Amino acid sequence: MKKSAALKSSAKQIITLNVNGRVYEQALFIHHTLLEVLREDLGLTGTKHGCELGECGACAVLVNGEPVLSCLLLAVDCIGKEITTIEGIADENRLHPLQKAFAELGAAQCGYCTPGILCAAKSLLDKYLRDDSRAVKPLNRERIKEAVSGNICRCTGYLKILEAIELAAERLNLLQNDPSQKILSTVYDKEK
Ligand code: FES
Ligand code: FES
Repeated sequence: MKKSAALKSSAKQIITLNVNGRVYEQALFIHHTLLEVLREDLGLTGTKHGCELGECGACAVLVNGEPVLSCLLLAVDCIGKEITTIEGIADENRLHPLQKAFAELGAAQCGYCTPGILCAAKSLLDKYLRDDSRAVKPLNRERIKEAVSGNICRCTGYLKILEAIELAAERLNLLQNDPSQKILSTVYDKEK
Protein backbone atom coordinates (compact mmCIF):
# COMPACT_ATOMS: atom_id res chain seq x y z
CA MET A 1 0.00 0.00 0.00
CA LYS A 2 2.77 2.34 1.00
CA LYS A 3 4.72 1.37 -2.11
CA SER A 4 1.83 2.18 -4.45
CA ALA A 5 1.31 5.56 -2.75
CA ALA A 6 4.98 6.36 -3.27
CA LEU A 7 4.81 5.30 -6.91
CA LYS A 8 1.75 7.47 -7.40
CA SER A 9 3.42 10.55 -5.95
CA SER A 10 6.45 10.05 -8.19
CA ALA A 11 4.35 9.65 -11.34
CA LYS A 12 4.02 12.42 -13.86
CA GLN A 13 0.67 14.02 -14.62
CA ILE A 14 -0.36 16.25 -17.47
CA ILE A 15 -0.98 19.70 -16.13
CA THR A 16 -1.64 23.01 -17.83
CA LEU A 17 0.19 26.15 -16.81
CA ASN A 18 -0.15 29.67 -18.13
CA VAL A 19 3.31 31.23 -18.20
CA ASN A 20 4.00 34.62 -19.75
CA GLY A 21 0.71 34.44 -21.64
CA ARG A 22 1.54 31.08 -23.18
CA VAL A 23 -0.30 27.88 -22.29
CA TYR A 24 1.96 24.91 -21.56
CA GLU A 25 0.42 21.45 -21.36
CA GLN A 26 3.11 19.27 -19.91
CA ALA A 27 3.71 15.98 -18.12
CA LEU A 28 5.11 17.00 -14.74
CA PHE A 29 5.96 15.46 -11.42
CA ILE A 30 3.26 16.75 -9.12
CA HIS A 31 5.70 17.11 -6.22
CA HIS A 32 7.93 19.48 -8.20
CA THR A 33 8.13 23.12 -7.26
CA LEU A 34 7.28 25.89 -9.65
CA LEU A 35 11.00 26.75 -9.74
CA GLU A 36 11.91 23.22 -10.88
CA VAL A 37 9.18 23.14 -13.48
CA LEU A 38 10.01 26.58 -14.91
CA ARG A 39 13.70 25.84 -15.24
CA GLU A 40 13.83 22.12 -15.94
CA ASP A 41 10.59 21.39 -17.80
CA LEU A 42 9.81 24.67 -19.53
CA GLY A 43 13.38 25.82 -20.11
CA LEU A 44 12.73 29.24 -18.55
CA THR A 45 16.07 29.58 -16.82
CA GLY A 46 15.81 33.31 -16.19
CA THR A 47 14.30 32.47 -12.80
CA LYS A 48 17.24 31.70 -10.57
CA HIS A 49 17.85 28.84 -8.23
CA GLY A 50 19.27 30.11 -4.95
CA CYS A 51 18.75 28.87 -1.40
CA GLU A 52 15.58 26.83 -1.98
CA LEU A 53 14.62 27.82 1.54
CA GLY A 54 12.62 30.96 0.91
CA GLU A 55 15.40 33.19 2.11
CA CYS A 56 17.15 34.76 -0.88
CA GLY A 57 14.41 35.87 -3.30
CA ALA A 58 16.39 34.76 -6.37
CA CYS A 59 13.52 32.51 -7.46
CA ALA A 60 10.79 35.19 -7.25
CA VAL A 61 8.19 35.23 -10.04
CA LEU A 62 4.72 36.71 -10.26
CA VAL A 63 1.59 34.65 -9.78
CA ASN A 64 -1.54 36.62 -10.56
CA GLY A 65 0.60 39.74 -10.29
CA GLU A 66 1.91 39.01 -6.80
CA PRO A 67 5.55 38.17 -6.14
CA VAL A 68 5.97 34.59 -4.89
CA LEU A 69 8.99 32.45 -4.10
CA SER A 70 8.81 29.72 -6.71
CA CYS A 71 11.06 27.42 -4.64
CA LEU A 72 8.33 27.17 -2.01
CA LEU A 73 5.35 26.71 -4.30
CA LEU A 74 4.24 23.53 -6.05
CA ALA A 75 3.64 23.97 -9.76
CA VAL A 76 0.29 22.17 -9.43
CA ASP A 77 -0.87 24.92 -7.10
CA CYS A 78 -0.48 27.37 -9.99
CA ILE A 79 -2.96 25.68 -12.30
CA GLY A 80 -5.45 28.27 -13.54
CA LYS A 81 -3.24 31.19 -12.45
CA GLU A 82 -1.19 33.64 -14.49
CA ILE A 83 2.52 33.14 -13.98
CA THR A 84 4.97 35.80 -15.10
CA THR A 85 8.71 35.23 -15.14
CA ILE A 86 11.53 37.54 -16.10
CA GLU A 87 11.22 36.26 -19.69
CA GLY A 88 7.71 37.76 -19.79
CA ILE A 89 8.18 41.26 -18.47
CA ALA A 90 9.48 42.94 -21.62
CA ASP A 91 6.97 44.05 -24.24
CA GLU A 92 8.21 41.86 -27.10
CA ASN A 93 11.47 43.57 -28.09
CA ARG A 94 10.91 46.62 -25.89
CA LEU A 95 12.47 46.42 -22.46
CA HIS A 96 10.26 47.08 -19.47
CA PRO A 97 11.10 50.51 -17.95
CA LEU A 98 12.60 48.68 -14.97
CA GLN A 99 14.92 46.63 -17.20
CA LYS A 100 15.93 49.78 -19.06
CA ALA A 101 16.69 51.66 -15.84
CA PHE A 102 18.67 48.71 -14.41
CA ALA A 103 20.79 48.58 -17.56
CA GLU A 104 21.34 52.35 -17.63
CA LEU A 105 22.30 52.65 -13.98
CA GLY A 106 24.37 49.47 -13.72
CA ALA A 107 22.00 48.07 -11.12
CA ALA A 108 22.90 44.49 -12.07
CA GLN A 109 26.40 43.19 -11.55
CA CYS A 110 26.55 39.37 -11.59
CA GLY A 111 22.79 39.56 -12.27
CA TYR A 112 21.84 36.52 -10.21
CA CYS A 113 19.42 38.44 -8.01
CA THR A 114 18.12 40.63 -10.83
CA PRO A 115 15.21 38.56 -12.20
CA GLY A 116 13.71 38.19 -8.72
CA ILE A 117 14.18 41.87 -7.91
CA LEU A 118 12.67 42.94 -11.23
CA CYS A 119 9.63 40.75 -10.60
CA ALA A 120 9.14 42.16 -7.08
CA ALA A 121 9.57 45.72 -8.38
CA LYS A 122 7.23 45.16 -11.31
CA SER A 123 4.52 43.95 -8.97
CA LEU A 124 4.94 47.13 -6.92
CA LEU A 125 4.85 49.50 -9.92
CA ASP A 126 1.88 47.66 -11.44
CA LYS A 127 -0.10 48.22 -8.24
CA TYR A 128 0.55 51.96 -8.52
CA LEU A 129 -0.21 51.92 -12.25
CA ARG A 130 -3.58 50.36 -11.41
CA ASP A 131 -3.95 53.14 -8.87
CA ASP A 132 -4.97 50.82 -6.06
CA SER A 133 -2.01 51.65 -3.83
CA ARG A 134 -1.63 55.39 -4.34
CA ALA A 135 -4.32 56.34 -1.88
CA VAL A 136 -2.93 53.99 0.78
CA LYS A 137 0.77 54.85 0.65
CA PRO A 138 2.72 57.17 -1.65
CA LEU A 139 5.40 55.50 -3.72
CA ASN A 140 8.74 56.53 -2.34
CA ARG A 141 12.13 55.06 -1.41
CA GLU A 142 10.76 53.47 1.76
CA ARG A 143 7.96 51.73 -0.09
CA ILE A 144 10.42 50.47 -2.72
CA LYS A 145 12.78 49.16 -0.03
CA GLU A 146 9.89 47.32 1.58
CA ALA A 147 8.90 45.73 -1.75
CA VAL A 148 12.37 44.31 -2.44
CA SER A 149 13.26 43.52 1.16
CA GLY A 150 12.98 39.77 0.52
CA ASN A 151 15.57 39.86 -2.27
CA ILE A 152 19.21 39.49 -1.34
CA CYS A 153 21.93 40.98 -3.53
CA ARG A 154 25.55 40.15 -2.80
CA CYS A 155 27.09 42.53 -5.32
CA THR A 156 25.57 45.97 -5.63
CA GLY A 157 25.13 47.31 -2.12
CA TYR A 158 21.48 47.95 -3.13
CA LEU A 159 21.82 51.67 -3.85
CA LYS A 160 21.81 51.32 -7.64
CA ILE A 161 18.92 48.88 -7.44
CA LEU A 162 16.81 51.34 -5.44
CA GLU A 163 17.76 54.20 -7.74
CA ALA A 164 16.90 52.18 -10.84
CA ILE A 165 13.47 51.31 -9.48
CA GLU A 166 12.95 54.97 -8.59
CA LEU A 167 14.03 56.04 -12.06
CA ALA A 168 11.56 53.65 -13.69
CA ALA A 169 8.84 54.84 -11.32
CA GLU A 170 9.61 58.48 -12.12
CA ARG A 171 9.43 57.81 -15.84
CA LEU A 172 6.03 56.22 -15.28
CA ASN A 173 4.98 59.26 -13.21
CA LEU A 174 4.48 57.14 -10.13
CA LEU A 175 7.06 58.43 -7.71
CA GLN A 176 6.17 60.79 -4.93
CA ASN A 177 9.43 62.54 -4.31
CA ASP A 178 10.36 64.53 -1.34
CA PRO A 179 11.04 67.92 -3.05
CA SER A 180 14.41 68.06 -1.31
CA GLN A 181 15.51 64.80 -2.97
CA LYS A 182 17.40 64.72 -6.22
CA ILE A 183 15.04 63.84 -9.05
CA LEU A 184 16.73 60.96 -10.84
CA SER A 185 15.08 61.37 -14.20
CA THR A 186 16.30 64.95 -14.51
CA VAL A 187 19.82 63.60 -14.12
CA TYR A 188 19.57 60.50 -16.29
CA ASP A 189 17.22 61.79 -18.97
CA LYS A 190 18.71 65.26 -19.50
CA GLU A 191 20.76 64.27 -22.52
CA LYS A 192 17.94 62.48 -24.29
S1 FES B 1 15.73 30.04 -4.07
FE1 FES B 1 13.75 30.60 -3.45
S2 FES B 1 14.07 32.05 -1.88
FE2 FES B 1 16.09 31.36 -2.39
S1 FES C 1 23.95 41.64 -8.84
FE1 FES C 1 25.01 39.90 -8.04
S2 FES C 1 23.71 39.19 -6.45
FE2 FES C 1 22.79 41.02 -7.10
